[in-house]
Amino acid sequence: MSSTRSDAFVLFGATGDLAYKKIFPALQAMIGAGDLDVPIIGIARGAGTLDTLRERARESLAHNGGIDEAAFARLASQLRFVNGDYRDAGTYQRLRAALGSSSRPLHYLAIPPSMFAPVAQGLAQSGCARNARVVVEKPFGRDLASALALNATLHEVFPESAIYRIDHYLGKEAVQNLLYFRFANSLLDPLWNRNYVESVQITMAESFDVQGRGSFYEEVGAIRDVVQNHLLQVIALLAMDAPAARDAETVLADKLRLFRAMRPLDPAHVVRGQYRRYREERGVAADSQVETFVALRLYIDTWRWAGVPFYIRAGKCLPITATEVIVDLKRPPLTIFDPVPPSMSNYFRFRLSPEVLISAGVRVKVAGEAMRGEPVELVARHEPTGERSPYARLLTAAMRGDASLFTHDSAVEAAWRVVDPVLDGKTRVQLYECGTWGPADAKLVLVGEVGWHDPVAETSRPC
Ligand code: BG6
Repeated sequence: MSSTRSDAFVLFGATGDLAYKKIFPALQAMIGAGDLDVPIIGIARGAGTLDTLRERARESLAHNGGIDEAAFARLASQLRFVNGDYRDAGTYQRLRAALGSSSRPLHYLAIPPSMFAPVAQGLAQSGCARNARVVVEKPFGRDLASALALNATLHEVFPESAIYRIDHYLGKEAVQNLLYFRFANSLLDPLWNRNYVESVQITMAESFDVQGRGSFYEEVGAIRDVVQNHLLQVIALLAMDAPAARDAETVLADKLRLFRAMRPLDPAHVVRGQYRRYREERGVAADSQVETFVALRLYIDTWRWAGVPFYIRAGKCLPITATEVIVDLKRPPLTIFDPVPPSMSNYFRFRLSPEVLISAGVRVKVAGEAMRGEPVELVARHEPTGERSPYARLLTAAMRGDASLFTHDSAVEAAWRVVDPVLDGKTRVQLYECGTWGPADAKLVLVGEVGWHDPVAETSRPC
């Protein structure tokens, strides 16, 4: 697809939760940055007018990051509204009229996947799909079979090159830096393999619960919610071979090779947990078996990574909110100085949130006569929070036709192939107390002497 800019932004689900929490703030940020000066057409079912949509946008901003009056005034003036049912042909005729002379619209489907088919058909039949781009949200399917079906549905109307599947992790500064830091330096490559790496851990900890999203979570669980997408993407960026160029197609090809080399998960290497209060949440079954925590071991069957365990741990109601990757290197082959507990040094740490941090853990000698050392971190980058919203970055890229920050049919399908064997209660769920690191059995997925590295608040880390 050529990189001509889209000349209209169409938002399906304009009155929905995602639009309220993420999309209006992103649109305001894009307008503020001078990245969006085209008509924004909100579509929604039910009673509503342009004025009520403007009010809702304003309220959304007030609750999610604040109102920038100048940018909001422009947002309000660029906003249009089409009211109608997604199954009604009239809705798409009205959309066609609202699009006016637009010749390359972008349609953002911020709606449940069950509505993708009727919307794609409606867009096609009304001529609104011609030359258009379409942005779709996760969850992209609920297993491999449904993802294949969903891809087939979209491909009936849109070529793959026009489909932008959002995984907001790919829009995060820290996640982009994984790729950049690995391949803009020659430091890591000699170490980045089974000869030097002992294991890799990713912990995505959230100290909050499902925050009123009980019925959503019942349909999803932690594996579908964050492992199949965000965390496997992080592993792909950490473990893929160097692409020969930075364009979307080349990077995707190397990423895809990595996804395809991930061994489907073994239920014996997966521990699922559920925080004790979860079953009291609204929309949650009294006997729910859905996991709010998961710890697992994954292998990548390539020459580079054969035998190296990749661990993932993700959960709600844990002691802290932080996402961190630790790449543990093998210990020096002989201990000739002071004995060191495993994993106190010899590692790389990538803090993905809330801060952006890249560091290497090493030991240095303490001044004095004894050949005694202490662990220190060499910090390559440390930025506090406050980066540009991943949604603004992703939608800006989609508007200009840059697919490099989006996932593709083949990668999404390969990721489902990895998690498929452990979906839907194939392992039992164990209860854990809020504020703990999940069920005690989480340590059973680890092999070797290194334990889980629990992220701590950066402010409480000794310098
Ligand atoms: C979303 C999940 O995709 O990612 C949420 O649905 C999770 O459950 C969120 O909390 C985490 O994203 P971030 O950017 O806040 O780390």
